[in-house]
Amino acid sequence: MKFLKYILFLSFFSFVFFSCEEENPEVDPKPVFYDLESELPFYFGKNYEIPEDNPMTVQGVELGRMLFYEKKLSGNNTQACASCHQQKNAFSDSNRFSEGIDGIEGKRNSMSIANLLWNQKFFWDGRANSLEEQALIPIQDPIEMHQSLDEVVAKLQSSDIYPSKFKAAFESEIITAENIAKAIAQFERTLISSNSKYDLYLKGEYDLTPQEQLGLDLFFTHPVPQAGLRGGNCGDCHTNVLTSGDLNEFDGFHNNGLDEDNSMQDKGLCNVTEKDFDQAKFKAPTLRNIALTAPYMHDGRFNSLEEVLDHYDLHIKKSTTLDPLIREASNELTLPEDPIKLFLTNEEKAAIKAFLHLLTDDQFINDPRFSDPFK
Ligand code: HEC
Ligand code: HEC
Repeated sequence: MKFLKYILFLSFFSFVFFSCEEENPEVDPKPVFYDLESELPFYFGKNYEIPEDNPMTVQGVELGRMLFYEKKLSGNNTQACASCHQQKNAFSDSNRFSEGIDGIEGKRNSMSIANLLWNQKFFWDGRANSLEEQALIPIQDPIEMHQSLDEVVAKLQSSDIYPSKFKAAFESEIITAENIAKAIAQFERTLISSNSKYDLYLKGEYDLTPQEQLGLDLFFTHPVPQAGLRGGNCGDCHTNVLTSGDLNEFDGFHNNGLDEDNSMQDKGLCNVTEKDFDQAKFKAPTLRNIALTAPYMHDGRFNSLEEVLDHYDLHIKKSTTLDPLIREASNELTLPEDPIKLFLTNEEKAAIKAFLHLLTDDQFINDPRFSDPFK
């Protein structure tokens, strides 16, 4: 009798259970394609690739944004990617060296994360070949977030929110380090800065002041004193409208004269390629939002754009791997043995600075799609 009751109870229960499911089948929303391309300004060009094995989806980007702001990614739950990459600073850090979770400072300045879709080499020395590869490095770095990938995966797997978010993005509740990296990379690819005054100008919607026009001309001109052509030669390396080097390969890496041979602390690209001629070459980063990302250079040695301009104008250090485009560049006729100087006037430096300020994108740093989703 008892047994029968039990069976009845069970069948009643399964009836309720299954009928509920019939009426209300648990829909598995398929990941929805994220249409990034339609957001991109045509003048940024098509020189980018989204990895075939990590197509962008609405759910993937949403999850990536959460992970970018997620402190569980660090060993003691105090630090997120966003701690060292803050939106108000165009996703860089205003500290010279960022502090990791154990209060230890790194040796390099944090980098802005904007328009990285057009880059295939990451870090100052280019040691990561994709955003997916890059994302797992700070998590495990002992002086940054200091946590093993197994620990991160376990923490996220046992949380209330993440398994369903991973299911929505990658069709599996089983969280993997690979999918963590993929989601973060998807979010980072959406960080497009294309609403500065310079963009308005490129679209014909803003008239430059005479000072800004002079700055733009100097920025993109290599000086030819014989022809009376004045220039700042910045655009030789911070090329075209993205103002970054060609970063698909190491062509966009240069030695911009910060140190003499014997005083170089950081070998830069040479650490990666192990070639002597890559000594002290670093990534020429985008200058978009540069007014917001002080301090400057891989070691954050300069505090202001004035200091940066004085460096390029007057304080270039000669070394074996100094870039030829800097070695030759001067607005006055000089001899090879002379110190390397651009000989810009104060007015010209102020004009270049005015041009650099045109690259500030207030919409980008206030865009709610890129902000902390937990606030
Ligand atoms: C403790 C501070 C800190 C944390 C936390 C941190 N970063 Fe960084 N990030 C840096 C520094 C410093 C660099 C430059 C390091 C180098 O070149 O060796 C950098 C470089 C990068 C770059 C390269 C940008 C370029 O133009 O090449 C990307 C992308 C990036 N970080 C994303 C992330 C992501 C994603 C996370 C979280 C998983 C993260 N960072 C966590 C400090 C930090
Ligand atoms: C030969 C190539 C080259 C030329 C020419 C050049 N740069 Fe750079 N620039 C670089 C490289 C490489 C870096 C990164 C160097 C480092 O950190 O060690 C850099 C860094 C910078 C930074 C700091 C970026 C940051 O995120 O910290 C600014 C600002 C800058 N350059 C502005 C200029 C201006 C303005 C000019 C023209 C007066 C100019 N550059 C000319 C290659 C160049």
